[in-house]
Amino acid sequence: MFIDSHAHLEYSNYEADFSEVLARAKEAKIELILNIGTTLEHCKQGLEVAQSYPHIFASVGIHPHDANKVPADYLDQLKAFAKNPKVKAIGEIGLDYYYEHSPREIQLQRFEEQVRLAQELNLPMSIHCRNAFQDCFEILSKVSYFTGVFHCFTGTQEEAKKALELGFYISFSGIVTFKKSQALQEVVKQVPLEKMLIETDAPFLAPEPHRGKRNEPAFVILTAQKIADLKAIPLETVAQKTTHNTKTLFQL
Ligand code: NI
Repeated sequence: MFIDSHAHLEYSNYEADFSEVLARAKEAKIELILNIGTTLEHCKQGLEVAQSYPHIFASVGIHPHDANKVPADYLDQLKAFAKNPKVKAIGEIGLDYYYEHSPREIQLQRFEEQVRLAQELNLPMSIHCRNAFQDCFEILSKVSYFTGVFHCFTGTQEEAKKALELGFYISFSGIVTFKKSQALQEVVKQVPLEKMLIETDAPFLAPEPHRGKRNEPAFVILTAQKIADLKAIPLETVAQKTTHNTKTLFQL
């Protein structure tokens, strides 16, 4: 059994074949899926999906890309979503200085507000961090809340080490299967299985050999297999450990 710890399964991403996507996930032994919100609208849609399927859970938060597009009462709206027992995390939240779709000051403000919200609600965080680890660690340390996962990790060995020291889990996506990901593959070898999660980030970032196509939860196995190969351990071990870790972190 596997868990896809980070997917974006609003119906709009899978208009034509949503039930087939879920059937393929079941066939591939994907036991649970954590459906991640990025905007208030997507959080609402994602929660609707989670409420419709017993094996899908939801996470609510505002993505750094959308940090400058929220209404003044967005935290209250997130809090209202989080009252639903299917909501198991706050995310994805964080900082993205690579695309910088929202100004940095606004990203920093929204991230801190949502870390505080997670702390207040005692929920783990799904953190998006790209080219912004120093500021990310600074805010987490300022709030002093360290429960969660760095999702779709693409940082360095040092950044992984720091995240682990703070107590975070690290989640790997299909990026680890890409040919140009040698540096990241070295990070995979160093991160202990006890602190590792796997994810698709579907519909984005499909692993090899599906790269460039729409991603879906069933493909998380390809990432798990790559991790097993890199660590020279059985696929079954990766499945067991990452499933256990994901259930522990998100209390599934
Ligand atoms: Ni994502």
